[in-house]
Amino acid sequence: VSLLPLNTFGLDAEARYFAEAESEEDLQKLLANPLYKEIPRFVLGGGSNVLFTQNIDALVIHPVIKGIEVVKEDEQYIWLSVGGGEVWHDLVMHCVANGYAGIENLSLIPGTAGAAPMQNIGAYGVEVKDVIVEVRAVSLKTGELRIFTNEECQFGYRESIFKKELKDHYIITGILIRLNKTPEFHVEYGDIRKTLADMGVADLSIQAVSQAVIQIRQSKLPDPAVIGNAGSFFKNPEIEQSHFNQLKLKFSTLPGYPTEPGKVKVPAGWLIEQAGWKGFRDGQIGVHERQALVLVNYGGGRGEDIKALSEKIKASVADKFGVSLSTEVNFI
Ligand code: EPU
Repeated sequence: VSLLPLNTFGLDAEARYFAEAESEEDLQKLLANPLYKEIPRFVLGGGSNVLFTQNIDALVIHPVIKGIEVVKEDEQYIWLSVGGGEVWHDLVMHCVANGYAGIENLSLIPGTAGAAPMQNIGAYGVEVKDVIVEVRAVSLKTGELRIFTNEECQFGYRESIFKKELKDHYIITGILIRLNKTPEFHVEYGDIRKTLADMGVADLSIQAVSQAVIQIRQSKLPDPAVIGNAGSFFKNPEIEQSHFNQLKLKFSTLPGYPTEPGKVKVPAGWLIEQAGWKGFRDGQIGVHERQALVLVNYGGGRGEDIKALSEKIKASVADKFGVSLSTEVNFI
């Protein structure tokens, strides 16, 4: 089975076996099936954060568990149980339309609700960990359902337990999120305020914030339906304050955001651009012309070549700035 329509990089990798699961029970049955017992398993969610560098000699399981359900509400909050297979942006639009606040800054992020906690998706000052109450997941080994509290997920910047100790152990089948009936706006990040002003917005609303985020993303990030990509290819590295000060002497425009005492986060996009890669193209692959953090496949590019390009970029950034980039995208 070709995985071409199931990854936003638009790579044509073949899965040896492929199955969709529409419910937790469906998934448990599949996992218990003796036919597939000996075959390695690989879980593919929205396919928006993976880079296939070869064919997948495994049973690829694609959860398509649907549903957005109100499970509880009080004066202040509303709790939604969401199937892992729901498209993330559709969920955001549903919440914005119903006046449930909290994820409007996460508009237009590709992928599914089930993949969101995996790497703790984040944008414009909000991360999904801010609204997650619980994550439901089925063990790939035993088929058992386990409910993880927010704390048990060990969320960090583009990190969770599902990418660390429990990597390849669980399939996320659903999330329970808590949203606010009275919005708390996060508009300090980047160009949000400016975009809202340009849009002529006088009174903040979750609709307006969502629209502003959509506009900013559309202006900077390539639409995967048009140009294959997986969003940010690298994480923004955190460096020592002393290293930052040193770099600042030589590169006075280097942006930096203090995180914890003695540490500064610097934008990988800036480093990559300064190293001369922005807009670089080699055949069918390259570096996006408006956001250097995004590697692109113009169509027909190969995963191995994108990987090789990412290694060259890494080496050149290390050489120029002494900063080691780590990838955000998962190589498969
Ligand atoms: N910059 C450059 N050149 C570039 C790209 C960025 O100089 O080619 C500079 C910008 O001028 C700005 C700074 O880098 O000073 C930050 O840029 P931006 O606000 O575009 O955000 P980012 O740090 O590049 C991160 C996330 C994005 C998220 C945005 C907005 C990571 C790895 N990426 O990007 O997430 O949408 O902030 O919050 O943290 C993703 O994870 O796939 C993703 C798109």
